[in-house]
Amino acid sequence: MSKAKNPTRIWLSQPHFESSDIEYISSLFERSGMATAYQNVGIFEEKLAAKLGQNVVALSSCTGAIHLAIKALEIKENDTVICSTFTFAASANPILYEKAKPVFVDSETLTWNMSPEYLEQAIESEIKNGQKPKAVIVVHAYGVPAQIDRICEICKHYQVPVIEDAAEALGASYKGKMLGTWGEIGVYSFNNNKVISTGGGGALTTSQPEIIEKIRYWASQSREMGLPYYQHEAVGYNYRMGVMAAALGIAQLEVLEKRVKQRRKIFNFYQENLDEKMLYWQPELTENSYASRWLSSALIKGEKVNNFVLYDFLTLNGIESRFLWKPLHLQPIFKQCAFYGNNIAEQLFNKGISLPSGNDLQLSDLKYVSQKISNLLL
Ligand SMILES: Cc1ncc(COP(=O)(O)O)c(C=O)c1O
Repeated sequence: MSKAKNPTRIWLSQPHFESSDIEYISSLFERSGMATAYQNVGIFEEKLAAKLGQNVVALSSCTGAIHLAIKALEIKENDTVICSTFTFAASANPILYEKAKPVFVDSETLTWNMSPEYLEQAIESEIKNGQKPKAVIVVHAYGVPAQIDRICEICKHYQVPVIEDAAEALGASYKGKMLGTWGEIGVYSFNNNKVISTGGGGALTTSQPEIIEKIRYWASQSREMGLPYYQHEAVGYNYRMGVMAAALGIAQLEVLEKRVKQRRKIFNFYQENLDEKMLYWQPELTENSYASRWLSSALIKGEKVNNFVLYDFLTLNGIESRFLWKPLHLQPIFKQCAFYGNNIAEQLFNKGISLPSGNDLQLSDLKYVSQKISNLLL
């Protein structure tokens, strides 16, 4: 079960369930039965909250979590929300759901994540334009910590709340504090390719109980409680996590630390086995930074081979890889949005590649991938 389903192909990041996960789920249902299976969502929330040290609401996706975070911060039509440009579209799409305006900020070379300097420039400039940003969404790309302490300091100075998109970074930390717990609100993804998966799911965390209360209310169709009939006084959403997903999540949380260690080992293997003349790996701040290394990502050195050629070559050899995130300010859907920066994220996109990083990979897979890359690049 832990092996890739198609042994002829090495995948980027498959969901990784072990027979113990399935046994765990069966035992949960044997103990509680379907009638009380709803308790699984609460149990999952408690277990994740214990890891994070603050409250959690389990949701159907991280995208839904970002949407509700935006609502909780009372972001409305034409408000401005700053977001990392180097990320998946789901970080910024929920800004559009509420008809607010995304403003994108470039990466820094140090972590590939949001540049604190360009962030400050963006906030000041938007304030000068009479549009004080209502929130900053900062992403820890590929599970590598952004300079989240500096970013939070800047946002505190200008009194702008931080939403930490830690979709790729559950289990990662900075200065001993879990990613996702630095900002006012943090969000995680448990979709199929993440470090742990519930087969689709997300979570929101915050230290503010009133936000937790609002999120639970909206996520469950805004049903007023304490009445024998269904009463709705606000628009609601079906964003709660399902019971099967929660059961799987309980089992997967038990192996979170192990999974992160495995991903970090995969990253270290590539770093040690692929000559530094070929690839430049996503750097990590040395000061107490602990990345989840969701996807091992690197930039191709030199001009001999570009990422299109490497991508096609790996595909031909049965290896799935992926381009780095195309910056959101370059995506057609966001082309009207303001952007602060230079072209750092664009250069990452132009030169980068993510390599197979799943927990099901064997040493022989890693050796095969490294050998193939060396053959092409050296
Ligand atoms: C940075 C980032 N944010 C948000 C999401 C959305 O997560 P979900 O698929 O759980 O909605 C993802 C998912 O891949 C992501 O990588």
